[in-house]
Amino acid sequence: MQTLTQVLASQPLNASLTQVIHTLANSAKDISSAVRQGALAGVLGATEQENVQGETQKKLDIITNDMLKDALAQDSHVKALASEEEDDIVALNSQGSYLVCFDPLDGSSNIDINSLVGTIFSVLPAPAGDVSAKSFLQSGRAQVAAGYVLYGPSTMLALTTGHGVQLFTLDPSTNEFLLTDAAMSISPDTSEFAINMSNQRFWEAPMQSYISDLLLGKIGPRERNFNMRWIAAMVGDVHRVLCRGGIFTYPADNKDSKKPFKLRLMYEANPMAFLVEQAGGVASTGYETILDIEPQHIHERVAVILGSANEVNACLEYHGQHYDDQEPEC
Ligand code: F6P
Ligand code: MN
Repeated sequence: MQTLTQVLASQPLNASLTQVIHTLANSAKDISSAVRQGALAGVLGATEQENVQGETQKKLDIITNDMLKDALAQDSHVKALASEEEDDIVALNSQGSYLVCFDPLDGSSNIDINSLVGTIFSVLPAPAGDVSAKSFLQSGRAQVAAGYVLYGPSTMLALTTGHGVQLFTLDPSTNEFLLTDAAMSISPDTSEFAINMSNQRFWEAPMQSYISDLLLGKIGPRERNFNMRWIAAMVGDVHRVLCRGGIFTYPADNKDSKKPFKLRLMYEANPMAFLVEQAGGVASTGYETILDIEPQHIHERVAVILGSANEVNACLEYHGQHYDDQEPEC
């Protein structure tokens, strides 16, 4: 079985990007151990602090953020980082060629119930000159690598550097990531959807209609039954979509008029969209391709609809997006 080192060596990557990916992967191994220690390490439960989005931070959110920050600070190729748990960017090595955005522990409400959590990361090229938050405001198309690490029954790394999506499993006996799927591919059709149904009455009309039709199943316009899954950790739901297809969405809602979207563009939507596109799927806000969004803020939030190409496109039809009309003219 190929190791992560061997797989990266087989890709046309420059040495500094390979190094940054190793730094992220090694840090994820340490996070995996911390997560596995759970209550034994006294790391569960909420702290008194709030993060920039006004959510209560869990102890493990802070611990994992610090672990990644320390590891990236020691990698001379990393110029700066942006994290869900940091209000501002953190400047690191002025000579570095890359910027790293991350969500250190996605799905952290799952921590206290010993359920699925993960780390999501995105690597961007660093513009020349002094680094600032503005340096990060590049569209998802600029990403040179992205991925997630899932801390589940086994620890898995899904990675793209723009050459498909490779899935690795952490071998606990050697602490090495070993290649277990060389080319993840999302089936274009699916009968499985993931959405937080409790927000139904707050969604926009197109999403209300789309989900209503899925729920009608065989007796509705879709003429087949759909199944629903919701892990409440994007990393887990997207992993399922990459493994066996599906549609995952966290759409706009008007539950809180000041916060119409939940997921963050730079360290949730963009890296997941890069993986999904590389695996043959589609990732959109309903009105715009996620990877084409020009970010305005490092902590910007967006609506997300991603997964099996035909199903996402079916959902986009409800949003007035007609994909057949967008075929390039010959
Ligand atoms: O990071 C935000 C997040 O935890 C995602 O991982 C997940 O998909 C979503 O929020 C869960 O939202 P809710 O609490 O509405 O189920
Ligand atoms: Mn998250």
